[in-house]
Amino acid sequence: MDWGLENRLNRILKPDTGRTVMLAVDHGYFLGPTSGLEDPGRTVEPLLPYADSLMLTRGVLRQCIPASSDIPVVLRVSGGTSILSELSGEGLTVATDDAIRLNASAITLSVFVGGEGERETLLNLAKLCDVGQKYGIPVLAVTAVGKDMVRDARYLGLACRICAEIGAHFVKTYYCDGFEEVIANTPIPVVIAGGKKIGEREAIELAHNAIKAGASGVDMGRNIFQSDCPVGMIRAVRSVVHENATVNDAFEIYRQEKDARG
Ligand code: 5RP
Repeated sequence: MDWGLENRLNRILKPDTGRTVMLAVDHGYFLGPTSGLEDPGRTVEPLLPYADSLMLTRGVLRQCIPASSDIPVVLRVSGGTSILSELSGEGLTVATDDAIRLNASAITLSVFVGGEGERETLLNLAKLCDVGQKYGIPVLAVTAVGKDMVRDARYLGLACRICAEIGAHFVKTYYCDGFEEVIANTPIPVVIAGGKKIGEREAIELAHNAIKAGASGVDMGRNIFQSDCPVGMIRAVRSVVHENATVNDAFEIYRQEKDARG
């Protein structure tokens, strides 16, 4: 790995723990208006001190995040479809020079293994990995799961392994039973998405189980910004990721923060 690429990756996966708490707020790129992200700048502002990076689109970055912020940016560079269409037909939406101009610490796209857009999205990943290698920018592959796919270790392991083989520098997927198997077969760091909003304790447990199974962190969105106490949630998840906190201790962090804020 070259110095620039390694340096950028170290801005996201913190060298002291090898782990990361990524805050994902890119949902609007295919969902449009998303509860909790009506005003993304306002949503993320109190969370930034506890996030290791921010995953978002260039539109939200330019309009809502002050350029004075020093949060590392994981820039979503795929899209072109919406919940009203066939999601797996994503293409690349950002030119390399704009990603560089926006000072992206990493670039990211979704791949749809087993979906109609499988070939196209995997070939886009390959293109992006070439860009990443050329300019020293790490590539995060996101394993999107189609409606009819089963989120099990066999499927997610297949998707993650393919991303690693093509050259992604890290991969984001979903937690599942037997997650150790996914980790064992993926020779790059794996982070997990949070998925749809669930109970706070359940979401903390999800992060805890993933870390225990060998995940390198989380790239969590809705379970943080749709929580009744987003700061409490990100602090709780952070304690699990970087301090190996137990579920009870982490939940207590969330609870106390919520109480303190009334
Ligand atoms: C969509 C994404 C989102 O960033 C992702 O799903 C993370 O957010 P959440 O924790 O809300 O699932 O990559 O493809």
